[in-house]
Amino acid sequence: MTRPGRRSGTRRNPGPPRRRSSPPRPPEVDAPRRAALDLLDAVRTRDAYANLALPAILRRARLKDRDAALATELGYGTLRARGLLDAVLEHCIDRPLAKVEPPLLDALRLGAYQLLRTRVPPHAAVDTTVELVRADAGSRPAGFVNAVLRRVGEHDEAAWVARLAPDAAQDPVGHAALAHSHPRWIAQAFADALGSTADLDAALAADDARPVVHLLARPGDITAEELALATGGTEGPYSPYAVHLDAGSGAVGDLGAVSDGLAVVQDEGSQLVALALTRAATAGPDTGRWLDLCAGPGGKAVLLGSLAAMDGVDVDAVESGEQRAELVRRAVDGLPVTVHHADGRNAPLPDAAFDRVLVDAPCTGLGALRRRPEARWRRRPEDVAGLAKLQRELLVAAYRHVRPGGVVAYVTCSPHLSETIGVVTGTARKLGAEVLDARDLLPGVPDLGPGPTVQLWPHRHGTDAMFLAVLRRP
Ligand SMILES: C[S@@+](CC[C@H](N)C(=O)[O-])C[C@H]1O[C@@H](n2cnc3c(N)ncnc32)[C@H](O)[C@@H]1O
Repeated sequence: MTRPGRRSGTRRNPGPPRRRSSPPRPPEVDAPRRAALDLLDAVRTRDAYANLALPAILRRARLKDRDAALATELGYGTLRARGLLDAVLEHCIDRPLAKVEPPLLDALRLGAYQLLRTRVPPHAAVDTTVELVRADAGSRPAGFVNAVLRRVGEHDEAAWVARLAPDAAQDPVGHAALAHSHPRWIAQAFADALGSTADLDAALAADDARPVVHLLARPGDITAEELALATGGTEGPYSPYAVHLDAGSGAVGDLGAVSDGLAVVQDEGSQLVALALTRAATAGPDTGRWLDLCAGPGGKAVLLGSLAAMDGVDVDAVESGEQRAELVRRAVDGLPVTVHHADGRNAPLPDAAFDRVLVDAPCTGLGALRRRPEARWRRRPEDVAGLAKLQRELLVAAYRHVRPGGVVAYVTCSPHLSETIGVVTGTARKLGAEVLDARDLLPGVPDLGPGPTVQLWPHRHGTDAMFLAVLRRP
């Protein structure tokens, strides 16, 4: 996979203009690593979302199959591991990391990631990184990177953690945060939600691992069994519509079932919380209307809409982002779903009119960090308070739209207590809502805690860390 030889780097230092008739540029030296470095650059300089930037980078580099998988693994892995890598690099460089040229720091992180967290032979990890830097920046920076990476390679990951992390007995949160490369405040939020630090290592380790892709077999279009057969995946353990793909599966969009619209990418936990809403018992006569109050980009609207189609129910879907509302429209094409571009806090929809309302609230996304490699380093603790206020307001609005006897599911893809219990407990009390035991709505799912709300976890359930509370309006 690693092709030795030619130098590259014409992107940053284009040299004399080429004649129009010149042939396409030959493949660059070690194209997967170049692509991984381009991804780090896009995330740093353009604030890009890695999962959105990567496909274009792979296409431009014409990487496929194993090369594309290597570039993805190196790019995503380096982004996830940034905290640990920076701690090690800081130890190996005699000036603060802030004083290292940012593109060089990207290269150092990429090299250090390969040394500490992959089976790439150390000489290949160092040499390929040095060559990339030489091509881009010249011999002196290449020499610097070579020296630093050789120091990084003097110890393996476990030995570096033992040297650099706080003592696990004195400071279990600090230790786990460094060992599993999470910001400390997020490790603390996980520990708070778990109720102790006993499980924290397992929780953060699962959050740091490359996630399995989950598909939703669209109800009424294909069964999970058929989808598993068609994709070579396995049926999910809890959702009747879930299929898990092998970790090494290639581009999901290339799967026939996905490009044909029979299946969409959706975490099994997301499926479970949407299904819970459809399973909760209502009281009194139904109106035949459901509402998805925060619908973009439309994953749960597809599941709700597919089930609604079977039950003869109509769904309204609200989304405040214009582009995201458009994504919902495309996703629910052909389903009995009407999409509204509006603020869910004052959507132009009738009060007390819906049997079931989903509030899949905007949140920090701390429960889905494993699927968004760069997100843990972007989020800030200050983000939480503003989101919690919005979440409360959306929950109150949802409650206004539900009919007496109807149910509201409040969902976040964050386990942060300020976004979960902190929102639900006070709001439900103020509204006079009945809080149902959500565990009853997830039959067969083990380890759901004391209830009545539910917190799913990657290390316990293999899902994102989704939170679910179900309220009924008396
Ligand atoms: C967690 S996402 C929802 C995910 C979606 N249910 C799905 O399964 O694909 C939250 C969504 O709420 C939207 N949002 C944020 N503020 C909102 C508001 N005031 N009213 C309605 N939607 C809002 C965000 O743009 C985002 O698309």
